[in-house]
Amino acid sequence: MSDVLLLNGPNLGILGRREPEIYGTDTLADIERAVGEEVAARGWRVVAVQHDCEGALVRAVQENYDTVGAIVNPGALMIAGWSLRDALANYPRPWMEVHLSNVWARESFRHDSVLAPLASGIIVGLGSLGYRLAARALVATVD
Ligand code: DQA
Repeated sequence: MSDVLLLNGPNLGILGRREPEIYGTDTLADIERAVGEEVAARGWRVVAVQHDCEGALVRAVQENYDTVGAIVNPGALMIAGWSLRDALANYPRPWMEVHLSNVWARESFRHDSVLAPLASGIIVGLGSLGYRLAARALVATVD
């Protein structure tokens, strides 16, 4: 077991070109590289999956039970992604929920996450740094 699952949901594949005033200018490739740098401290590598369809994300969770932990930005699936929620309920390792933007400072429909009660930790509003911090949290806490 030496991989970390980095899971990104709908509309996150176009980071860098997506509302940069909200989500910043780092691309998903930049973020994947940054997470890789952080977890290298434990000799882990990153299995990065981004998909716009919930079913593909569910499948990615199911296929990666052997990872040491996960970092998940579900995008708008935070709001009503019940099948992703159920997939993560059966994920056997710690995982961190990350949102680039401060969802609580935005529209009220972003204020609840159906996934959050299952997460080991949650980081919001710190942009791409949030992924690095989530990776550091896994490095520091995973057995
Ligand atoms: C997001 C916040 C969500 O509300 C939004 O739907 C996204 C991105 C974030 O990273 O800030 O797609 O998860």
